[in-house]
Amino acid sequence: MSSFYVTTPIYYVNDKPHIGHLYTTVVADVMARFQRFMGQEVRFLTGTDEHGQNIEKVARRDGVRPIEVADRNAPVFRGLWERFGVSNDDFIRTTEERHKRGVEEIIRRIEAARDLYLAAHEGWYCASCEAFYPEKDLVDGKCPDHGLPAEWQREENVFFRLSRYGPRLLDLYEKGVDGKPFVYPESRLNEVKSFVSLGLKDLSVSRTSIQWGIPFPGYPGHVVYVWLDALTNYLSALGFGSESSALFDKFWPPSAHAVHLVGKDILRFHAIYWPAFLMSAGLPVPSQVVSHGWWLRDQKKISKSVGNVVRPDNLISDFGIDPLRWHLLADMTFGQDASFSDEAFLARYNADLANGVGNTLSRSVRMASDAFSGKTPSIRCDVNEVRTAAEEAVDAWIAAFSGHRFQDGMDAIRRLVSAIDGYLASREPWKRVKTEGVTPAIHRIHYSAMEGLRIAAVMLAPIVPKTSAEMLKRLGLPAPDTVTRKDLRWGLLPREASLPSTSPLFPRADIKAYFAEKVTKKEPPVEEEKKAPEAPAAVEPAAVEPAAVEPAAPESEPKISIEDFMKLDLRVGEVVAAEKVEKSKKLMKMSIRVGEHVRTVVGGIATAYKPEDLIGRKLVIVANLLPAKLMGIESNGMVLAASLPGTGEPSLLAVDPAVPSGTKVK
Ligand code: MSP
Repeated sequence: MSSFYVTTPIYYVNDKPHIGHLYTTVVADVMARFQRFMGQEVRFLTGTDEHGQNIEKVARRDGVRPIEVADRNAPVFRGLWERFGVSNDDFIRTTEERHKRGVEEIIRRIEAARDLYLAAHEGWYCASCEAFYPEKDLVDGKCPDHGLPAEWQREENVFFRLSRYGPRLLDLYEKGVDGKPFVYPESRLNEVKSFVSLGLKDLSVSRTSIQWGIPFPGYPGHVVYVWLDALTNYLSALGFGSESSALFDKFWPPSAHAVHLVGKDILRFHAIYWPAFLMSAGLPVPSQVVSHGWWLRDQKKISKSVGNVVRPDNLISDFGIDPLRWHLLADMTFGQDASFSDEAFLARYNADLANGVGNTLSRSVRMASDAFSGKTPSIRCDVNEVRTAAEEAVDAWIAAFSGHRFQDGMDAIRRLVSAIDGYLASREPWKRVKTEGVTPAIHRIHYSAMEGLRIAAVMLAPIVPKTSAEMLKRLGLPAPDTVTRKDLRWGLLPREASLPSTSPLFPRADIKAYFAEKVTKKEPPVEEEKKAPEAPAAVEPAAVEPAAVEPAAPESEPKISIEDFMKLDLRVGEVVAAEKVEKSKKLMKMSIRVGEHVRTVVGGIATAYKPEDLIGRKLVIVANLLPAKLMGIESNGMVLAASLPGTGEPSLLAVDPAVPSGTKVK
């Protein structure tokens, strides 16, 4: 058995958990559960980041000590994860003594490598990011991520010689670790590579302007920069810096495969600073940094500082934990951003859970129960289409989940469920039983369908553990403690086992009634939370009217012929470079690869996208437009984007990242 270490970022305790935090934690939980399922020895870590300026500020505002803020909020995170069935093995708080020891040890090693020096430092600082920004990256003097004014800070800091590590980092990005790329997905790896190849500056790793932090060993009056402090949690939770190295030896490379799961906002810290700190300290780097996109609301990252938070509480009370876990995984293409909406949640719930898995399971179990007096069939069947579909699905699911392609893995489960549905529809056992009676053929048909569903339930275990266990129970199996890879073998459905009586696993959601009720409830808009910092955790997303159904195309609109439409040459392009056009609020200059060629396209999307969001992104362009000059730049084509109602903000058309650039769109 080999070992696998998976971590979430540690969450700032100046905020209560929202759906973005939940997403990261659920994805890490799915990874941990999948690896355990596959037989790996797993350590899964999460925790809270409790030092730094943000927490100090909140404490000052509330007239309490920073540790009280941390003590108030850390249990909220811990409690939510418990409620969500998150299977973490440890929960670290950076105010714990074990963590302080780890930080002191890594600094001792970095100091021994002569990578620290003292120097004056000044610049624009975003307190929410806890990071300095070059002036050119600010948008109207505000942080490009949080939209909050940056503050000019000047102080004497301890610096880390980050600039030394550029070549070793580039080598790491080039070679990867154990045959896998150091950063996943590839678009994010490219982003990190291009950042580092432009040259790295040394990094200030202490603060004198705040007190709430770990005292910097050897530099009185300085506290450790919150990111050097926070990143070290991944080691201190393994006992690094303590007398016992057992966990560290087992779960840190080279003995283990160590994966840090992070949002794209903190990729730079994990893929550049962290490996550089480790290299300096003479320690192995993690195996992989896996970076996901953001949940957005109204085109903006969901975050407390933006004030558009979505708290999970109401969706949980309406639909339960598993539907939310399923939705989070199913509706965000891993690595890209996704918009959170109640409609998307409900549509997904009805399509996959109520209709898909739920309906097929109840039909199959009900029919078997009727035919065999409340028991599973007594004759098995080993050669049938369901078995073929199950074996195909299992292979596809394992390959996809091993490579963090969760949506592909979920597709494999969906395919199996619909194959079972199709199989039952074509065999019509309910008709045959009336004319032929309960023949061996009827046994075989039901066995095949139920065994297929058992395998689907086993594949569901890492994603929706409670649903998986409930399905297995309904299929006549004893409530399982855990399921493992061995349970994917065909033929394990017990024969003549009692079937419990069944109510629908996922009752269909009445979408109209759901929204009607929300509208009558007249909840506060999501913005409320921004105005009232002490608002309760259960702020629901704003009510959204279901879209009115329109006829296909209003009669008055002029129509074009297919020939006219075909004159448009629409192509998939990949953005390889992007920069804002100076002196323009809206325009973005992009280098877009279309097949073999790279062309310049200028588009009015800079109010909604930052250059780094675009690099590596696939989009659709009109490739045969006549060139046009925009702010003196020749644009060869146009990117396609929806224009959002109300604001007119652009929202780029999404393309499956697997589609090669240059592919024709028609
Ligand atoms: N404390 C740092 C991390 C230190 S790790 C050594 C931090 N904390 S955070 O609470 O602000 O955010 C942590 C993570 O929450 C993000 O990286 C991301 O994984 C997740 N998310 C926060 N908002 C999010 C969305 N709107 N969407 C998806 N995930 C996001 O940064």
